[in-house]
Amino acid sequence: MKTYNITLLPGDGVGREVTEAARRVLSATDELFEYDIRFTEKPIGGAAIDATGDPLPSDTLESCIASDAVFLGAVGGPKWDGGTRRPEEGLLGLRKNMGLFANLRPVKVTAATIAHSPLKAEIVRDVDMLIVRELTGGAYFGAKTRDATSASDLCIYTVEEIERVARVAFRAAMRRRNHVTLVDKANVLETSRLWRDTVTRIQKAEFPRVALEYVLVDTAAMRLIQKPRAFDVVLTENMFGDILSDEASMLPGSIGLLGSASLGAGGPGLFEPIHGSAPDIAGKDLCNPTGAILSAAMLLRYGLGRTDEADAVEAAVAAVLASGRSTTDLGGTESCSSFARAVVDALRHTYGMSANRTHWGMSTA
Ligand code: NAD
Ligand code: IPM
Ligand code: MN
Repeated sequence: MKTYNITLLPGDGVGREVTEAARRVLSATDELFEYDIRFTEKPIGGAAIDATGDPLPSDTLESCIASDAVFLGAVGGPKWDGGTRRPEEGLLGLRKNMGLFANLRPVKVTAATIAHSPLKAEIVRDVDMLIVRELTGGAYFGAKTRDATSASDLCIYTVEEIERVARVAFRAAMRRRNHVTLVDKANVLETSRLWRDTVTRIQKAEFPRVALEYVLVDTAAMRLIQKPRAFDVVLTENMFGDILSDEASMLPGSIGLLGSASLGAGGPGLFEPIHGSAPDIAGKDLCNPTGAILSAAMLLRYGLGRTDEADAVEAAVAAVLASGRSTTDLGGTESCSSFARAVVDALRHTYGMSANRTHWGMSTA
């Protein structure tokens, strides 16, 4: 039987709770389908600062690199504000060290979530977009300076950094509706003008069948609320993608609904919900684990190539939401753990009966 090694990085705050939810769901798929998952848990972020003084201990990084895939909950929290090391350094260091330059953040409004949107149903119905956020460049990683009276964060991009993430976006568009919106600030920023030139050249040379549209980031923020169905694949730089994806999470109605995959040129991917450690609700079993569970589905799909099993997890999440059960961020009464249990039950209910796995074209013999 195939064995997969997964490093779990629960991190801080609700990161711990949603990682447990994702672990339970992944464990249920391993019971139902033909593989073994071995989990190794390692500290990152504030928990790692407390344990070792380092937000990304070398032992954690080595375990991630040696894994088939990595799952992360969230890092950060007020406890570590003002310290010499920040929890967020751990996550940024992990993305950089693992070469995870493309962050895929799908945003979908379904029949089950449409009622939870703060926007009108006719605006958000059938929204289905994929934000492709560049993840290892820009102001996040440029040189930083600080003296008594000023500070700077250098925003720098190379042509190669733009080309490789552009290809990810165009390839994704070819499996969707063949449309890419490049979001930038080319009316002001030189880096954005390099993005436009580079992405246009790649489109013309390699993806002529994919339509490419340019939208300035301020207008994009508006259009996400005004006409969100107009977006298919949204390609953008690191910080714009960070901000716009939190905004986009309000289309289905909660930041707790969105998952993500952070991928590189090969090697293990990192799968993480888009939300943070939510210190205001941490430790109360209140947070929504959906984004984490959908990140686990992306881990199965993109990290392990287990498409059927990823589909099964997504269908189980959809079934639970469609049954009207939800956590308090969506107005429901489920806890993080009871919602995760409901997803596991839905999986077992649907797939448990195929004990001989003939449904999957596999034999237990
Ligand atoms: P946050 O995403 O943690 O929380 C923003 C708001 O959304 C809060 O009101 C929170 O309760 C709510 N929320 C977040 N996740 C939720 C969930 N799963 N279910 C229900 N509600 C949820 O952002 P913040 O408060 O600005 O940041 C808190 C800390 O998290 C900071 O230290 C920040 O750096 C860190 N952070 C980490 C990540 C990550 O690890 N990927 C992402 C974002 C923020
Ligand atoms: C995210 C987070 C991180 C980011 C922080 C915690 C460094 O907001 O994953 O979206 O800005 O990338
Ligand atoms: Mn963010």
